[in-house]
Amino acid sequence: MASTLDRLPPYVFYELDARRAHHRAQGRTLIDVGIGSPDGPIPPVVVEAMQRVAADRALSGYPYFRADPAFAAAATTYLAQRFGVTVDPAREFLALAGSKEGIAELILAHVNPGEAVLVPEVYYPVYARATLLAGAEPVFMPFLLDGRLDLDAIPAEPLSRAKVMIMNYPGNPTTASVSLDELARYVAFAERHGLLLLSDLAYSELSFDGFAVPSVLQVPGAARVAVETHTCSKSFNMAGVRIAFVAGQHAAIARLDAYRSNIGYGVSTFAQMAGAAAFANAATIVPPIVAEYRTRRDAIVAAFNAGGWPVQAPRSTMYLWLDVPAGFGDWEWVDALMAGPGVVVTPGITFGDAGRGKFRVSLVQSAERLEAAAQGIIAAARR
Ligand SMILES: Cc1ncc(COP(=O)(O)O)c(C=O)c1O
Repeated sequence: MASTLDRLPPYVFYELDARRAHHRAQGRTLIDVGIGSPDGPIPPVVVEAMQRVAADRALSGYPYFRADPAFAAAATTYLAQRFGVTVDPAREFLALAGSKEGIAELILAHVNPGEAVLVPEVYYPVYARATLLAGAEPVFMPFLLDGRLDLDAIPAEPLSRAKVMIMNYPGNPTTASVSLDELARYVAFAERHGLLLLSDLAYSELSFDGFAVPSVLQVPGAARVAVETHTCSKSFNMAGVRIAFVAGQHAAIARLDAYRSNIGYGVSTFAQMAGAAAFANAATIVPPIVAEYRTRRDAIVAAFNAGGWPVQAPRSTMYLWLDVPAGFGDWEWVDALMAGPGVVVTPGITFGDAGRGKFRVSLVQSAERLEAAAQGIIAAARR
């Protein structure tokens, strides 16, 4: 792994950080819509729980390896109420210190050198990077025009070496989402090819206009082949707390448990108690957070359209996924936006080669600042 690490190109967000720091050092004020880190506060009911548990003696000992029973109970109750899904908290559930590292651990625990992992062609970077760290090969699954996976286009040869298939709906950065029927197609495909299906459901609650994001675990029999990661980072403005979970196939959870217990302890009890408060109160915490993102989405989409740049409002996630204007290279466009209007965006190549020619805007600023960002982007494209 050490030599693979040496060969991996730097994480693009590091590069973006360096360029942003350069402009800030020159005293420039930037509108940062680059990284998808929520700017809203941790919900008060979660803060209160954190304050309460900080004085709790239970915190001084090592946490449970798999999950604190209170966290597992709150999270599995949420799964039941939100998706109508029954998960055994003792066998089919494990707490994670964020879904990013949980996904990496799942990959490391499941694939051997020379095997393959099926990754969407535009992807959250950890899917491919953890695969490479495991000595395995990421095999990219193309999208159909509507954002669904084109399973027929996966060549037989790497498919026969594949152990894990990853999907991410609603997708970062694509914002694409799919129906439960489509998820059932992926479950059937995974079962036919002996794959562990890993559904990254980081944006389960961030959807608009009456669209309720489905869970793969709603597909009958899905727990035979699938696991799904959920996180408090986006739904509850808790990215700094680092609390998430994985639920689904017992064998995969047991293997992940074996991996994790060999290299560490369970997730911080403090973070699990914060997560328990969040999931227990999801029904009241989520609506105002979604309402704020909807206001921002509508404001920036209207600003783009008013400026003659046609943009469709995404029905989920906290992003816009836009085309780089003709005549600009990927980093050239990002640099032009920083140097000109002072807007920080994420280049599409962050999310793989198939992201070339695109850029991502995160809705992590106020509606007014997002409108200003859109106006700056439009002006920069005209130059
Ligand atoms: C698709 C996707 N998965 C996982 C994560 C990471 O979430 P966490 O904070 O739980 O590690 C992100 C964060 O941006 C994401 O976009």
